[in-house]
Amino acid sequence: MERGRLTDVCAWAKKKRLHLLVDEIYQGLNYVDDMPSVLELDQSAFVVNSFSKYFGMTGWRLGWVVVPDEYVETANILAQNLYISASSIAQYGALAAFSSECIEILDARREAFRERRNFLSAALRDLGFELPENIQGAFYVYAGIKNFSNDCEKFCSDLLENHGVAITPGTDFGDFKSLEHVRIAFTTNMENLTLGLARLEAALKN
Ligand SMILES: Cc1ncc(COP(=O)(O)O)c(C=O)c1O
Repeated sequence: MERGRLTDVCAWAKKKRLHLLVDEIYQGLNYVDDMPSVLELDQSAFVVNSFSKYFGMTGWRLGWVVVPDEYVETANILAQNLYISASSIAQYGALAAFSSECIEILDARREAFRERRNFLSAALRDLGFELPENIQGAFYVYAGIKNFSNDCEKFCSDLLENHGVAITPGTDFGDFKSLEHVRIAFTTNMENLTLGLARLEAALKN
């Protein structure tokens, strides 16, 4: 979230005397500047994060939580009762991920994602999908399909069954206008994205 909006959210939480719990899992995979951690603005927030996205360690089951000082003991008790420890191999892998050579690779990867985002969002707009002006981070496009359908589940299932394109219905992500949205990932390479777009175009012309 950009600094301005995050500042407003923090002010709201403070007014309500609430702690924010913020999932910052896509931190480092942003394509606009000034997307700070909530901890820059609100020291009473809880932050959860993981090695699954920017660090590309999906499936290693390793993450972290930052808790305000007064909750450290409670968090320890919870952690000890929920699990014993992350595996050693995952912990050593994560240590290596902090090396400058690795960060260089990960930053180059983000730039590759940026290129795919630019390519995919322009192509989807041309096909008639509705997209936000600027996709600010992560590796997905959340696209409006009003021009084609008002049932994202039917839309996705038809694409999968009859056209060999796998995208995710908006209903997997909540209720707000979800029937008229789909999520398209750009975690695959440009060649596959190009193929997927060609299939999508053919499907929409049907
Ligand atoms: C916003 C968000 N939070 C958390 C997760 C969970 O990640 P993991 O359990 O792999 O650390 C995901 C994964 O897709 C995600 O998109």
